[in-house]
Amino acid sequence: MQPAQHRTTLTRFLIEERRRYPQASGDFNSLILSVALACKSIAREVAFGALGNMPSAAAGGVNVQGEVQKPMDVLSNEAFLRITEWGGHLAGMASEEMETPYQIPAHYPKGRYLLVFDPLDGSSNIDVNVSVGSIFSVLRAPDGEGAATEQDFLQPGTGQVAAGYAIYGPATMLVLTVGNGVNGFTLDPNLGEFMLTHPDLQVPADTREFAINASNSRFWEAPVKQYVDECMAGRTGPRGEDFNMRWIASMVAEAHRILMRGGVFLYPRDSKDPARPGRLRLLYEANPIAFIMEQAGGRASTGRQPIMAVQPGSLHQRIGVIFGSRNEVERIERYHNTPQAVDLPNPLFNERSLFRVPG
Ligand code: F6P
Repeated sequence: MQPAQHRTTLTRFLIEERRRYPQASGDFNSLILSVALACKSIAREVAFGALGNMPSAAAGGVNVQGEVQKPMDVLSNEAFLRITEWGGHLAGMASEEMETPYQIPAHYPKGRYLLVFDPLDGSSNIDVNVSVGSIFSVLRAPDGEGAATEQDFLQPGTGQVAAGYAIYGPATMLVLTVGNGVNGFTLDPNLGEFMLTHPDLQVPADTREFAINASNSRFWEAPVKQYVDECMAGRTGPRGEDFNMRWIASMVAEAHRILMRGGVFLYPRDSKDPARPGRLRLLYEANPIAFIMEQAGGRASTGRQPIMAVQPGSLHQRIGVIFGSRNEVERIERYHNTPQAVDLPNPLFNERSLFRVPG
């Protein structure tokens, strides 16, 4: 293993980035380092599995001491709040786990940034020991002294100052963009430091791998059906090539795979539940991953417009999400922008298909 002195730590990386902006105060770096610490503390809990303090996905368990246990997503949320609230960098926070914005307690100074996060994405995967992650996005707080309002957070993704995720997999990694490319850091569990191991990540423009929850296919819109049908048709279909399909049900894990070797991820708008035009949340799932993808040369879209161009209407808004290898995402956008002549039959359910309907 390469000795630590030959590696760039996250701290060094941030300090060297900051030197490019002589007017920067160091506030932003401290914020990112506290987010990284929150991720390390979650990584440690996750790694202990059934041996640790965190109960399974089921809420309200009781441990051997008779104490009421909180589910892991609640504990991960608390890790983010407690580790970042005191530093004086934040004007407020919003999270998947909190209905309304979190106010910085009055006894701490307030700062210039807003932190938005999903503390434990894909948490149902914990019980089966499959990779999960945390996702975060940093926005500028509007000027003013008052309480952070929902309105303050309703900024399009283009306003993000930084975004990242931590993936708790075989190795823990932090993937970060500060708007100047994407860099990946691997946690050295002995030193407790994130080390730069994947500088300047680039998503390959082409791919033969797509990820979608095919059990929703009967609810998809025609452009998505067309795209998946063509991939499934393989070498003898219009694409002339075989594709692989993946579905981990943990968006961080899918995004990470796509960053490492390309691919396309779709959780598109569908008609499954008319009250929900998509599954994933705009502010703390779609926007940060979109920022990372675009900074790595990939693309992120609703199918109809870039994710980061969407003006959010509410804190927990859901949206259709398509991201990954640029040429595939652009192809899917073209399908959305071309009027569909017919609703194409779906080969996922035809006679010869993998998902043949019995009977
Ligand atoms: O939003 C949480 C999440 O777990 C994502 O990480 C993942 O991509 C998706 O939901 C899985 O959805 P489904 O249960 O429909 O497969």
